[in-house]
Amino acid sequence: MRTHYCGELRSSHIGETVTLYGWVDRRRDHGGVIFLDLRDRSGTVQIVSDPQRTPDSYEEANALRNEYVVEITGRVTQRPEESLNSRIPTGEVEIYADKITLLNAVRKQLPFQVSSADTEPVREELRLKYRYLDLRRDRMAKNLQLRHQVVKSIRRYLEDVEGFMEVETPFLTRSTPEGARDYILPSRVNPGEWFALPQSPQLFKQLLMVSGCDRYYQVARCFRDEDLRADRQPEFTQLDMEMSFMSLEEIIELNEKLVCHIFQNIKGIEVSRPFPRLTYAEAMARYGSDKPDTRYGLELVDVSDILKDSGFKVFNEAIAKGGIVKILPIPHGNDAISNVRIKPGGDIFKEASEAGAKGLAYIRVRENGEIDTIGAIKDNLTPEQKQEILQRTNAQPGHLLLFGAGDGATVNKTLDRLRQYTAREFNLIDSQKINLLWVVDFPMFEWNPGEKRLEALHHPFTAPHPDDLDDLKTARAQAYDLVLNGLEVGGGSRRIYQREIQEQVFEAIGLSPEEAQNKFGFLLEAFEYGTPPHGGIAYGLDRLVMLLTGEESIRDVIAFPKTQQARCLLTDAPSSVDDKQLKELQVASTFKPKV
Ligand code: AMO
Repeated sequence: MRTHYCGELRSSHIGETVTLYGWVDRRRDHGGVIFLDLRDRSGTVQIVSDPQRTPDSYEEANALRNEYVVEITGRVTQRPEESLNSRIPTGEVEIYADKITLLNAVRKQLPFQVSSADTEPVREELRLKYRYLDLRRDRMAKNLQLRHQVVKSIRRYLEDVEGFMEVETPFLTRSTPEGARDYILPSRVNPGEWFALPQSPQLFKQLLMVSGCDRYYQVARCFRDEDLRADRQPEFTQLDMEMSFMSLEEIIELNEKLVCHIFQNIKGIEVSRPFPRLTYAEAMARYGSDKPDTRYGLELVDVSDILKDSGFKVFNEAIAKGGIVKILPIPHGNDAISNVRIKPGGDIFKEASEAGAKGLAYIRVRENGEIDTIGAIKDNLTPEQKQEILQRTNAQPGHLLLFGAGDGATVNKTLDRLRQYTAREFNLIDSQKINLLWVVDFPMFEWNPGEKRLEALHHPFTAPHPDDLDDLKTARAQAYDLVLNGLEVGGGSRRIYQREIQEQVFEAIGLSPEEAQNKFGFLLEAFEYGTPPHGGIAYGLDRLVMLLTGEESIRDVIAFPKTQQARCLLTDAPSSVDDKQLKELQVASTFKPKV
C-alpha cells in the first residue's frame, strides 16, 4: 500500500518507513552507491541503495533504468550536509530503500528523455506522438494540474458563491452560427441527414433560460473547423455561462468577481476592479484591434483629415475611396529600423504585406524637427501638413512614423501587426503585467465583402443597444469581450428575447423568413412562451489557462491536442473508415487521392 506521494516527503518524515510508487526519473551510480530520483505526479524524491546499508535492494536498484515503474519501501533519512538540495521541496531527505519491486520495465528505446533534468528541447511532433510520455514531464504535468485547479476554482465560485448550476447540453445537434465551419456527422437511422457538433452551447443555454434554470454554467467542449493557430484548436473548451434577469452591468460585475477569484486563487494576485473598458470604436482607433494589448503604448494616430488634400497620390486615393491614413509612431525607431527593413524584402515590409498592405510610407524625424522621407511625401506635403503630422503624433527627434493608407480594415490590421511586432523587438512588453479590459459597444454587424451582406459581429442572438433600435443596421450591440494581455479570453452579450427583434436581425443578415423558420424556428417559437431577459458569456478556458501558465500555445495546456493540420498524432486521427461503415450511413466519398 502506498503511504505517501514522492513529492510530499519532508524532514518531518525522517525516521518513518514509507512505501512509494513511481517512475525512475534518473539513475546514477556513484562508485557502487545507486541514487534514484523516483517520480510520481507530485514530484520527485531521492532514493539510495548500497551493498552495505541496503543489501536487499541493491541488486534491483542496480538493474533499474530510466522510466522503469517500481514500488519502493524504505526509511526516510536526513541527507548529509553536502547533498542538501534547496531547489526541490524534498531536497532535505532521501530514502534508504529496504525493498525495491520492479513493476514494469521499459522495453524500447525512449523517443526522448522524460526527466526534467534533461533540458534538451524535444520536437513538438515527437511530443504529440508520445503524448503520454510528454505528460509525465514536469512542465506538462504542472500545466495539467494548474488547469484542473482553475476549473475547480471556477466551479467552487460559481456554484457555492453565485448559485450557478451546471447543465450538460448535447453534442449531436444542429449547427449554431458562431462563424466557423461545422464538423458534421451523418445519422445512420436518418439517412441523408446530418448532425453538427456544437460550435458552442449558445442556443441550448438560451433555451435553459426559457426553462427557468436562471443561472447556468458548463465546462463545455466546442468544435470548430477553422484555420488553426497557436491560440485555436478544432476542439476546445469553454467556460460557458448564461444568466436571467441581469443587466449588462450586473453581468460584467459578476464576471469581474469571478476573474479576480481565479487570479487570487491560482496566482495569489489581487486584480483591481472595475476593469478598464474601451469602446470598440476607441480600441480600433487607438490600437487598430478589438483586442488590444495595452501593456505598452505605441498608439496609432489618424491623420486622414490632415492629408485629405495632399498631393501624394497614395494618401489621396485612399481617402477619396472612403479609406483612412493612420500612423504608427515608433520612438527611437530611427536607429533600430533601417530603410532596408521597411522596403520590399525587409522584415517590417513583410509583416505589413502579410496583413494586406501594398507598401509602407514613412517619415523619419531628425533634430530640430527636420524630416527625412521618400521623395513623393517630401515633395507633395505642405510645410503645414508636415508640421501638423509631427504635432499630432507628438513626434520627437528619433521617431519613425510608419503610415498605413487604404481601407480602414487593412490599415488597422497592418498597423496592429506592426505595433505588436515592434513592441516585441523593443522589449516593451512587461510579461509580469496582467492587463484585463472589456471591449464594449461593438457594432451589431460588419460588412462581408465576399458574400456582399451584413454579418453578425458576435452572433445573431446578441441584443441591440436599446437606444439604437431605430436603425438596426448601424446599431451597437449589448456585447462585451474580455481581453487579457492582447488575447480575447471571453466574449458574450445580452440576448434578444423577443421574437420580432430576432426576426429583424435575421432579416438584416440576409436570412429569408423561410430560412429563419427552417433553421431557428424552435428558438423563435420558444420566445413566445415567456422568455426572460437574459445574457451570458463564454471564456476560452484553454486560452485562460495558457496565460495563467505563461505558455505560448494552447496545445501546451490541453492533454491531447491536435496539430496545426487538425490531426491527432498519437492515434493518427482522422483516418479512413471501412466501406461497410460508409454504406450503412449511405454516404459516399468523392475524394480522389493525388497520384
Ligand atoms: P466566442 O465565439 O467568442 O463566443 O467564443 C468564446 C471564447 O472561446 C474562445 N475560442 C477558442 N479557443 C480555442 N480555440 C478556438 N478555436 C476558439 N474559438 C473561440 C475564445 C473566445 O473568446 N456563444 C458565444 C459566447 C456567448 O455569447 O456567450 C461564443 O462561443 O477565447
